[in-house]
Amino acid sequence: MARTAPSQTVGFDEPSVLAEAQRRRTFAVISHPDAGKSTLTEALALHARVISEAGAIHGKAGRRSTVSDWMTMEKERGISITSTALQFGYRAPDGTDCVINLLDTPGHADFSEDTYRVLSAVDCAVMLIDAAKGLEPQTLKLFQVCRHRRIPIITVINKWDRPGRDALELLDEIEQRIGLRPTPLTWPVGYAGAFHGVLDRRTGEFIHFVRTAGGATIAPERVLSAGDALTIADAQWTTAVEECELLAADGADYDRDTFLGCTTTPVLFTAAVLNFGVSQLLDVLVHYAPAPAAQLDIDGEPRRLDDPFSAFVFKVQAGMDTSHRDRLAYARVCSGAFERGDVVVHAATGKPFTTKYAQSVFGQQRTTMDVAYPGDVIGLVNATALRVGDTLYREVPVHYPPIPSFAPEHFAVARAADAGKHKQFRRGITQLEQEGVIQVLRSDLRGEQAPVLAAVGPMQFEVFAHRMATELNTPVELEPLKYTIARRTRPQDVAELQAQRSVEVLTRTDGALLALFADRWRLAAIEKEHPDLVLEPLVAAA
Ligand code: G4P
Repeated sequence: MARTAPSQTVGFDEPSVLAEAQRRRTFAVISHPDAGKSTLTEALALHARVISEAGAIHGKAGRRSTVSDWMTMEKERGISITSTALQFGYRAPDGTDCVINLLDTPGHADFSEDTYRVLSAVDCAVMLIDAAKGLEPQTLKLFQVCRHRRIPIITVINKWDRPGRDALELLDEIEQRIGLRPTPLTWPVGYAGAFHGVLDRRTGEFIHFVRTAGGATIAPERVLSAGDALTIADAQWTTAVEECELLAADGADYDRDTFLGCTTTPVLFTAAVLNFGVSQLLDVLVHYAPAPAAQLDIDGEPRRLDDPFSAFVFKVQAGMDTSHRDRLAYARVCSGAFERGDVVVHAATGKPFTTKYAQSVFGQQRTTMDVAYPGDVIGLVNATALRVGDTLYREVPVHYPPIPSFAPEHFAVARAADAGKHKQFRRGITQLEQEGVIQVLRSDLRGEQAPVLAAVGPMQFEVFAHRMATELNTPVELEPLKYTIARRTRPQDVAELQAQRSVEVLTRTDGALLALFADRWRLAAIEKEHPDLVLEPLVAAA
């Protein structure tokens, strides 16, 4: 979702909506699997006193059952597939009150399309890096999505309690590989593996962390002057001070405009598992991360924050609660105040939509959501009419731009394993397609009973098959196809393309005509032989 330059000004005409929007911080954590995203999420919740003990969210390896990994498949694989939104209030030590909306993103590359949708709903991202590993492939891909969407990034270098790489070297890697200039706000005292605390570059003070048993509770912090720091950390403090002098000489200082303009990134150091550095991150979110700004509609016109309610759907998910078999649409509020029970307009159909069942959802935990403001995420229950990308509004019509689909690279024919279950099969396909689990392509040749599924990553097929069998009680058979490339084409080019060897043209449900090719050589040969054909690339996967 395109947005205007973030504004921090609060107007006077609708003080409550603007003031409430101003308090919101809506962000996602982007990282490679295992960098510590779940641990950090939990640590943030612990610091905001949403939970009283670590282990409530992060459920791996014997800790208490996880909140975000709720699907069986996720549990078995230990990955987070689905998107959830955690909302909590947080009062910073200086008394600033904020509402934090933390949107969870799937960690696996196969679900990058899902991640892309979630990132369309945030105002900021936290790029979480493992101190021993530096920038990893999935982090790089997600970073590119943020860059594409112009999302400001706060960098967090995690696991500093373990042996890892040199801090300056990690900053260099960030600058060299992704062209984002790091501007550290804190600097580690002690090398990776011996983490005593951080030097706060803004005050010059030493924030000394104290370990708690198993990292289960908030780690106490002592704020010490530079003089006192010397007596505690001595050589390590001196090294930290020297390194900070190097950073200052290099001009690596925080700058609001370049941070919001996505050319610099504030950096923090943490050990999320010990809850070290987490309060500093919350503080940075409160004081530095942008509040929601006016969103641009499909014509590029901004919808003011205090205009009547509007929101867009960035995620549709069914089967979260197997006992209820419900279907949830997540919508990000862009303008106005939302009150549960409001009747809003579904822009795609022009029909009224009643929001009686609005919830705040994080994993299995649901709470009724009575009011919401720009930046908040509403979970709308049993929203069967809503699709990803749809706009909802009140009073003054608005239409937000659609969220683009990614170019699929994996294709398979789906058939019902039980020939008598065609009706359920068709219903299941429609539902999972509307949720964005897979794209569905059809042709007269293949018929309704054997549509082609298209996916960015092959694990989407597994999720599809698993959910068809378990939730929709319709086991399917999948026959992989040898295509790897899809291009958008025109009706007048179909006959020519179909005449080519190993090329097939199918229609996606949104009406797009997609020509499928076995590989880029085949595509290149056809493009060369028939330069008149239109073969447009689709949005590349992150
Ligand atoms: P993810 O969601 O990004 O995939 O990562 P997750 O939080 O599950 O963390 C991956 C592993 O890294 C976990 O270890 C977790 O405890 C560990 N970890 C996270 N943050 C830190 C940190 O700051 N320091 C250290 N030393 N480790 C950290 P695990 O062995 O997979 O699970 P567990 O037994 O610790 O739960």
